[in-house]
Amino acid sequence: MRFRQLGSSDLQVSEISLGSWLTYAGGVEADATAACTRAAFDAGITFFDTANAYGRGAAETAWGEILADYRREDYVLATKVFFPMSDTDRGLSPEQIAKQIDASLQRLRTDHVDLYQCHRFDARTPIEDTMEALAEVVRSGKARYLGFSEWTPDQTRAGLAAAPSDVTFVSSQPQYSMLWRAPEGEVFDVCREHDISHVVWSPLAEGVLTGKYLPGEAVPVDSRAASDEMNGFIKQKLTDATLEAVQRLRPVAEGAGLTMAELALAWVLRRPELASAIIGASRPEQVHANAAAAGIELTPDTLRAIDEALGDVPVAGYRLAPGASDQITHRS
Ligand SMILES: NC(=O)c1ccc[n+]([C@@H]2O[C@H](COP(=O)([O-])OP(=O)(O)OC[C@H]3O[C@@H](n4cnc5c(N)ncnc54)[C@H](OP(=O)(O)O)[C@@H]3O)[C@@H](O)[C@H]2O)c1
Repeated sequence: MRFRQLGSSDLQVSEISLGSWLTYAGGVEADATAACTRAAFDAGITFFDTANAYGRGAAETAWGEILADYRREDYVLATKVFFPMSDTDRGLSPEQIAKQIDASLQRLRTDHVDLYQCHRFDARTPIEDTMEALAEVVRSGKARYLGFSEWTPDQTRAGLAAAPSDVTFVSSQPQYSMLWRAPEGEVFDVCREHDISHVVWSPLAEGVLTGKYLPGEAVPVDSRAASDEMNGFIKQKLTDATLEAVQRLRPVAEGAGLTMAELALAWVLRRPELASAIIGASRPEQVHANAAAAGIELTPDTLRAIDEALGDVPVAGYRLAPGASDQITHRS
C-alpha cells in the first residue's frame, strides 16, 4: 500500500480506502462486511469512510463492532453528517452537529473520528453557525479534522471564510472517475489553493468500470445493479453507449498489463490533488484486487488511449450529486 498526506493535516491515508455506502448498510451481510473489512487491513488499507446516514446508523454500528478488534491508532476513521436520521434529524445546524457526532461516536465505539465531513452543504443553516459548531467538535477532541463532500467552489470559499481561525477543512469528497470528471475544473482548483485533498467516491463508477456489465446483456445476478435495494444510482450509468465505451477500455488495460479495476483506480490516483480513492467492495477478493492499484503509474500513452477509447461517451451523472444544493445562507 502507498500513503498520501491528507491536505494540511498530519494524517497519512492509504491511497485506496474502504467505504461503507450501500454495501455495509444492509446490502452485504454482516459476515461479508467483516470479511471485507479484515481483507482491507490485510491489504494495507488503513483509511475507512462511513456516514451516519448509511443505513441510518447501521453501517457505523457494523464497523464499530468490527473495528473494535483493531488498535484505534492503526487506522484513520472518517464519518459524515447531513442526511436525515429521522423525520426531524437532518442538516448541519449546531444542534444537529452536536447530536449527530455523539451518536456516531457511540455507534463507532470510539472517542474520536479522524475526519468529520459535511455530507452535503446545508443551504438552510447559516454557514457561520455550521462552521462554529464544527469547530466545537474539533475543540472537544471528538474529531481531529474537518472535511466536506460535494460542496460547490462558492460554498467551499464561504465555509473557509466563515471558519473560526483555529479550524479549517483538510478534505473534500467528490464523485470522481473516468466517467465523472466534473471536479477536475474549479473544485480541484479551489481546493488546491487551500491545501485541501480529495478523497473520491465511486472511483469504479459503482463497478461499471470493472467491465462486468456488458451492453445488451442482463446484469450479473450477484452485482450491485441486480439488487433492487441498491440500483438507484447505478441504473443511470448502465446505458449501452456507456457500457460500449467501457468495453473499449479492455484492450487498453490489457496493453498496460492491468485489470480494468486497476486501470480505473490508477487513473483517478494519477492526480496529485487526490489523497485516496474510496472503493466499495462486496467480497474480500475485490478489496485485494482493488488495493493492488496503489502505486501504479499510467504512462502518457495509456492515458491518451483511455481518452480515445472513451471518446465522447455521454457521462452518466449530474452537475451536483443527489442531495446537493448550490444555495448559501448567511447569518442575518
Ligand atoms: N460522499 C458521498 O456522497 C458518497 C456517495 C457515494 C459513495 N461514497 C463513499 O464512497 C465509497 C465507495 O463508493 P462505491 O461503492 O460507489 O465505489 P466503487 O468502488 O465505485 O463501487 C464499488 C462496487 O463495485 C463493485 N466492485 C468493486 N470492486 C470490484 C472488482 N474488483 N470487480 C468487480 N466488481 C467490483 C462492487 O459491487 P458488486 O460486487 O455488488 O457489484 C462494489 O460494491 C462508499 O462506500 C462511500 O464510503 C460517498
